[in-house]
Amino acid sequence: MSMDLFEQLKRFITEIEQAQAADAEALEQFRKKFVGAKNVIKPLQKGIRELEAEQRPVFGQLLNKAKQLAEEKYKALKASIEAGQEAEEVDKLDLTAPAEPLELGARHPVAIVMDRIIDVFSRIGFTIAQGPEIEDDWHNFTAMNTPEDHPARDMQDTYYLMNDPAMLLRTHTSSVQSRVMESQKPPIRIIAPGRVYRNETISARSHCQFHQVEGLYIDEGVSFADMKQTMLYFARQMYGPDARIRLRPSFFPFTEPSAEMDVYWGLQSETDYRITKGTGWLEILGCGMVDPNVLENCGIDPNRYSGFAFGMGIERQAMLQYRIGDIRLFFENDLRFLKQFKAAL
Ligand code: DAH
Repeated sequence: MSMDLFEQLKRFITEIEQAQAADAEALEQFRKKFVGAKNVIKPLQKGIRELEAEQRPVFGQLLNKAKQLAEEKYKALKASIEAGQEAEEVDKLDLTAPAEPLELGARHPVAIVMDRIIDVFSRIGFTIAQGPEIEDDWHNFTAMNTPEDHPARDMQDTYYLMNDPAMLLRTHTSSVQSRVMESQKPPIRIIAPGRVYRNETISARSHCQFHQVEGLYIDEGVSFADMKQTMLYFARQMYGPDARIRLRPSFFPFTEPSAEMDVYWGLQSETDYRITKGTGWLEILGCGMVDPNVLENCGIDPNRYSGFAFGMGIERQAMLQYRIGDIRLFFENDLRFLKQFKAAL
């Protein structure tokens, strides 16, 4: 009986030493038999009681050796199978295959249109000016000839900072006009693109945030005719060489006289009727001759200098150009929307 135990154990040891595993299944079989909770070595341990006293330590040692051997062998077999799998995967790799195409992003429609507007004005000598989005009352309203009790403030209600009610989110890029005039001497020829805010209920047609581009040109002897010609140039660059414009009298506190500029869109389709309200004309921007009060507020002599200014919404023009029916789409970051501007890069 005792010899049986020794022999049994020795046979297992030989088996462990000679074991090979061609695949994961064979490895698992080996694990179950020699390493797992129900391995075949364990039961032999009980037999130790049947052995002669002097044989017990010898058998115990052999038993431990077998266990250790089994674990080491298992690790080695496992490692070699894993290495084999890796090699197999590398074999499968076709290093000569062309790389997966990189998916190119698209520019945001607001950025596309804004850049086009900047481009058009850069070509005739306008440089870019910038101002803060968190603005003070003076630069946004008062310097722009819109004192505290002026009814025009109602149309541009905005968000005021709780810890400093004199600070607000700018309602238009016109605030950059006052900053530039305070810090630069004429001739001034700038455009100011940027984000603006209003306390508006969000809907398909209005939003509490949007983008504008402002323009300002101040020098000696700048006339209304200069403004009209500049606006015509802009419209033709943006809407084609045959674009027609019209200036409608309007009111803005910071310009006198003021006008709204329309571009002729046409009345070819039902949509044209809808977006032009049946007139064929589309309102694109506000403009006018800078009010002498504004020049004076900003330290420029109105008797010597004159100028014109204009301001336009970017989203509105992007909506027209790309036939986008809902202004909220610009701010939702929905990839299904944004990916559609790839071709416009
Ligand atoms: N700031 C005006 C607005 O937000 C737009 C505007 C009109 C800007 C006339 C101008 C201008 O510079 O001359 O509605």
